[in-house]
Amino acid sequence: MTVLAVNGSPRKGGNTSVMLGWVLAELEKEGFKTETFHVGGLEVKGCKACNGCAKKKDYSCVQDDAINGFIRKAKDAEALVIGSPVYFADITPETKCVIDRLGFVDLNNGNLLRRKPGAAVVVARRAGHVHSYDSVNHLFGITQMITVGSRYWNLGVALKPGEVNEDREAQETMSLLGSNMAWLLKKLKD
Ligand SMILES: Cc1cc2nc3c(=O)[nH]c(=O)nc-3n(C[C@H](O)[C@H](O)[C@H](O)COP(=O)(O)O)c2cc1C
Repeated sequence: MTVLAVNGSPRKGGNTSVMLGWVLAELEKEGFKTETFHVGGLEVKGCKACNGCAKKKDYSCVQDDAINGFIRKAKDAEALVIGSPVYFADITPETKCVIDRLGFVDLNNGNLLRRKPGAAVVVARRAGHVHSYDSVNHLFGITQMITVGSRYWNLGVALKPGEVNEDREAQETMSLLGSNMAWLLKKLKD
């Protein structure tokens, strides 16, 4: 069983990647396997509102692309961590494509995400963190997931790739988030 992360940044080794790395390192330390789906920069599409997932009922979207592969994995995953940089005070379009399509397949296929822990991770130069954090948490709220927090909202302050390494509070927040998720996952297995 695996904790799946989504990186919605087109920058592969950027700040979102660093922050997700801090969360996942903590989970791995606690014995969990992790996998990251790097959707940022891929040419992906949003939900077409075709209701194909409601007709097929096989836990997948009719658009058979990289997001569909991720949706299939999400069904078997134990938890999700969704990371995005802030673009114009919101998540990136690729992150939104994942949320809309995963969310619609979930609602139309018997709630495959139900009671799984989920966490949002966001990074921005200056503003828009909380709105973007909320955008991700809306998925968790409507799919019966359990939202995991830390001692601050799960955010980092940085502009250039790797600059978030200078944000010590972000690192502490992400490590604690990973540790809280590991704790919850172990409790859920009891
Ligand atoms: C198109 C675009 C829009 C952005 N909008 C915002 C914004 O609204 N607020 C902000 O503080 N930073 C904004 N930024 C800066 C990024 O959020 C910041 O550089 C972040 O660290 C990028 O993360 P990454 O390295 O994971 O891609 C924007 C960057 C881009 C390319």
